[in-house]
Amino acid sequence: EALMLLQRNGLLKSNASIDVVATLFGDSKDVMKMEQNCLIDWGESSLPDPRLSERCAFDDSQLRALSLGLNKKRPVLVIQGPPGTGKTVLLTELIVRAVRQGESVLVTAPSNAAVDNMVERLSRTGLNIVRVGNPARISPSVTSKSLAEIVNGRLGQFRKELERKRTDLRKDLRDCIEDDSLAAGIRQLLKQLGRDLEMKEKETIMEVLSDAQVVLSTNTGAADPLIRKTGCFDLVIIDEAGQGIEPSCWIPILQGKRCILAGDHCQLAPAILSRKALEGGLGKSMMERASLLHDGLLTTRLTVQHRMHDSIASWASKEMYQGLLQSSHSVASHLLADSPVVKVYILSVSGVRSIAWNVYVFWVCVQD
Ligand SMILES: Nc1ncnc2c1ncn2[C@@H]1O[C@H](COP(=O)(O)OP(=O)(O)OP(=O)(O)O)[C@@H](O)[C@H]1O
Ligand SMILES: [Mg+2]
Repeated sequence: EALMLLQRNGLLKSNASIDVVATLFGDSKDVMKMEQNCLIDWGESSLPDPRLSERCAFDDSQLRALSLGLNKKRPVLVIQGPPGTGKTVLLTELIVRAVRQGESVLVTAPSNAAVDNMVERLSRTGLNIVRVGNPARISPSVTSKSLAEIVNGRLGQFRKELERKRTDLRKDLRDCIEDDSLAAGIRQLLKQLGRDLEMKEKETIMEVLSDAQVVLSTNTGAADPLIRKTGCFDLVIIDEAGQGIEPSCWIPILQGKRCILAGDHCQLAPAILSRKALEGGLGKSMMERASLLHDGLLTTRLTVQHRMHDSIASWASKEMYQGLLQSSHSVASHLLADSPVVKVYILSVSGVRSIAWNVYVFWVCVQD
């Protein structure tokens, strides 16, 4: 059934994302048929140690998203969550567990900042991760995980030896400048060294990418031929998916067997400057479209926020989330003044104030 649907949409049977495409373009009957033929399954996978995570103790809505996200037969999962409900934290856990169950993962987001945020969190998990993208756009705090940096590190020894050989050959060349045929031979050797380096670079890049458990890039960065050559991923995850235009999401999605979109369409929508594009529908993200498909079957919601005081969250809850957003006990009544950083600041400010006061009193006494 999925095949017929794909052919209707002009896609090939061999496409790895066949079930994802069928789900996102098919109607309810198509999805039901795929389910009956055991091609897909919407249930939760059982988690071996659901509440045991080194990262945090997950709330119930997060646990549900986690077990839905780990079901290898589920083609699409949309994780919809207001600010601070732990989408990014949850994705980190999902990635760790997906790798543990043998899946290769491609992680993307619409912006470089969101990708680097994910790289930072994943760096602490001990997974083998690689960030692909223009080095000038990658945050300095995560450059050690960038493809260019890793490849440079691995090529260090090779480059040193090559440079030594080059210097020797150049010296030989100067010594035999009278002998044309010998000089031509040496020039050939020098050229060959350049080609060797190019080959070695290409080989190392492919090695690093295929060894990686998780590859990260922006949505559009996933069009990089280096990522495409790596082969099909088992799982594609898109964070901040509410902010990306649908065509950009298809770039990573078509490189994986299943996908998870996390975000919130009540926050920033895709930035579209052209009125024509807006009228054509580009303003609606894939996440928003997917969450309306198949009576909401694709979506799960996170309902507890772990970031802000309840007075702020309850306003947002009422105005934007039909009163469904709750505040975790740990943050519901916490104030900025309780934060350790602010406390240190207040102490230092009052310290400075008391010194200033003492100086003033001393000055007054001296005047007297
Ligand atoms: N179950 C939890 N227990 C304790 N803290 C949590 C839990 N889940 C998330 N947090 C904390 O809540 C904060 C927000 O999490 P996170 O950044 O993952 O949210 P988000 O949904 O991605 O937010 P945004 O919409 O801004 O991207 C973080 O400080 C995170 O450590
Ligand atoms: Mg986030």
